Amino acid sequence: MKVGIPKEIKNNESRVGMTPGGVFELVKNNHIVYVQSNAGESSGFFNKDYQQAGAIILDSIAEVYSMSEMIVKVKEPIAEEYDLIQEGQILFTYFHFASSEVLTKVMMKAKAICIAYETVEDEEGTLPLLTPMSEVAGRLAIQQGAKYLEKPVKGRGVLLGGVPGVAPGKVLVLGAGVVGIQAAKMAAGLGAHVTIMDINMKRLRYVNDVMPPHVVTEFSNEYNIRKHIKTHDLIIGGVLLKGAKAPNLIKRDMLKEMRPGTVIIDVAVDQGGCVETTRPTTHEDPVYIIDDVVHYSVANMPGAVPCTSTMALTNVTLPYTLKLANLGWEVACEKDASLKKGLSIISGQIVYEEIREAFGWEKEVV
Ligand SMILES: NC(=O)c1ccc[n+]([C@@H]2O[C@H](COP(=O)([O-])OP(=O)(O)OC[C@H]3O[C@@H](n4cnc5c(N)ncnc54)[C@H](O)[C@@H]3O)[C@@H](O)[C@H]2O)c1
Repeated sequence: MKVGIPKEIKNNESRVGMTPGGVFELVKNNHIVYVQSNAGESSGFFNKDYQQAGAIILDSIAEVYSMSEMIVKVKEPIAEEYDLIQEGQILFTYFHFASSEVLTKVMMKAKAICIAYETVEDEEGTLPLLTPMSEVAGRLAIQQGAKYLEKPVKGRGVLLGGVPGVAPGKVLVLGAGVVGIQAAKMAAGLGAHVTIMDINMKRLRYVNDVMPPHVVTEFSNEYNIRKHIKTHDLIIGGVLLKGAKAPNLIKRDMLKEMRPGTVIIDVAVDQGGCVETTRPTTHEDPVYIIDDVVHYSVANMPGAVPCTSTMALTNVTLPYTLKLANLGWEVACEKDASLKKGLSIISGQIVYEEIREAFGWEKEVV
């Protein structure tokens, strides 16, 4: 199969759809891989790395789209790419269709085969192509939190690890899922005292089993949250209710209970956030302050560390990319139930019902 890797052109997207290692595997399986010139530069991969792995470098994004049977990328196509997509072409990427009616209609009209990373689902019901980005965001949350706790950027002026003779900082993690556990692990590694909360006792039991004793579990409820926000320096929001808006666990009035300079990193911002005062921010302007509490709520945190994120993403997408290239999308999806869940739009037809439901469309509409 001819596989194309275009450069991402969405604002602030520095990741790329495939590493040279991924190209190497595809070429080994007798596929042809076209990579747009400089597509991987911001992720630390250069044209010569791709060439050495066996890729053919093409100058323009138009050439990549026109010469490829399958496009592997990171973000959904944006307006400049719409006309480049060909009928019957496989697009394997994050789409998040339910959040864009325009994109959905364009992809239906293009009659492409759209396979969405975010809905590929394994037997346990987890989303393997989303997990690594949550892992990145959870770990990064502590790195950012430690930075914004510094006084010159209006934080409390606390060193998370403390020093001999001085107690460490305290981190409150809401949610013991992928983000929460990675955040707790990083904070614990720095020597901070960590309280991690969830409503799922299985998750709390797991955390209690695997984490060191300075990571303490507590059941998540308003009473406990109100108690802990008074004494914790850094609060991480990592909750998720599948398919729903994040629950509002920290209400506006609770900010007054926190000490000035407390930092909130609301990772769940992409689902509306679990803090009432959360609003999405960008890497250019990541924080704002309300009632002396520093809020960080960047909606695409992994974009700050593209070298790591690109590799983490390709690690999980490559096995599926290989299947699609080796077998073609129909056989690959027939043989792999996880991959089949990623099928969203096939030649103009929506096959992932939740997309239709998101827009309230009847079957025959559009
Ligand atoms: N901002 C970013 O760049 C970025 C990156 C990756 C993920 N995210 C977001 O981070 C959030 C968490 O993702 P995840 O992969 O860790 O999800 P997950 O499903 O692995 O974990 C979510 C956890 O929240 C818990 N939870 C639900 N209600 C709760 C409550 N009231 N109190 C405490 N815990 C509660 C669940 O039981 C679950 O354990 C999601 O909204 C995800 O989209 C954001």
